[in-house]
Amino acid sequence: MRKRIIAGNWKMNKNVTEAVELATEIKAGHDNSDVDVVVCPPFTDLYAVHQVIKDSPIALGAQDVFWEDKGAYTGQISADMLKSVGCRYVIIGHSERRQYFAETDETVNKKIKKALEYELTPIVCAGELLQEREAGETEMVVERQVRGAFDGVSKADAVDVVIAYEPVWAIGTGKVATPEQAQQVHKFIRDLLAKLYDREFADALRIQYGGSMKPENAAELLTREDIDGGLIGGASLKADSFLGIVNA
Ligand code: 13P
Repeated sequence: MRKRIIAGNWKMNKNVTEAVELATEIKAGHDNSDVDVVVCPPFTDLYAVHQVIKDSPIALGAQDVFWEDKGAYTGQISADMLKSVGCRYVIIGHSERRQYFAETDETVNKKIKKALEYELTPIVCAGELLQEREAGETEMVVERQVRGAFDGVSKADAVDVVIAYEPVWAIGTGKVATPEQAQQVHKFIRDLLAKLYDREFADALRIQYGGSMKPENAAELLTREDIDGGLIGGASLKADSFLGIVNA
């Protein structure tokens, strides 16, 4: 049985004061041990949020990582730095990074390998654009992204990965994928992982859905066989809506 995992991707929201406030509210309201809960604030909030949640079941995640250990890479953040402020997870390959910051399947792969080396759990994002869905290319695109992400990653390392299926047309648009649409792609990804590794591995790996998930639509999505959690943007910025999804 896969344990559900709900993660909040705060994106570029919340200064450190606001982040501490939100983390404090989430900690106070969270008492559901059936679900793994992760919050992913901006880099500048990580240390302060860790101070709030460190003795709670809520885990800390970052929104990106660089693939080198250290050096002259102005503006980048290393896996070691993330570990040192208490991160256990890191989002890699979010569509916004692919769209605005030149993230590719190759850089995603390098970042996953570095994260795993430092025992950070990657939350690897994959998902198609609207025009790709309309052209019937969803499975092709997602297959390319997933194959690229896991390229050269051993089964022993890959067991720690979480995948987030985030159809780009559903992100921040209020247009959620139907449970059927999401389930279909989640199953496709799981079957692909069975081909890349094996069935037992694929059955154990957790696949989150992301894209306009809200307390009102979460339960219906989360009861589908292959949907093991959510990666939440907008609805993770308020404690009551985020916890509403955790408890859905
Ligand atoms: P929204 O929940 O705001 O659609 O964002 C989803 C997302 O991108 C999470 O990473």
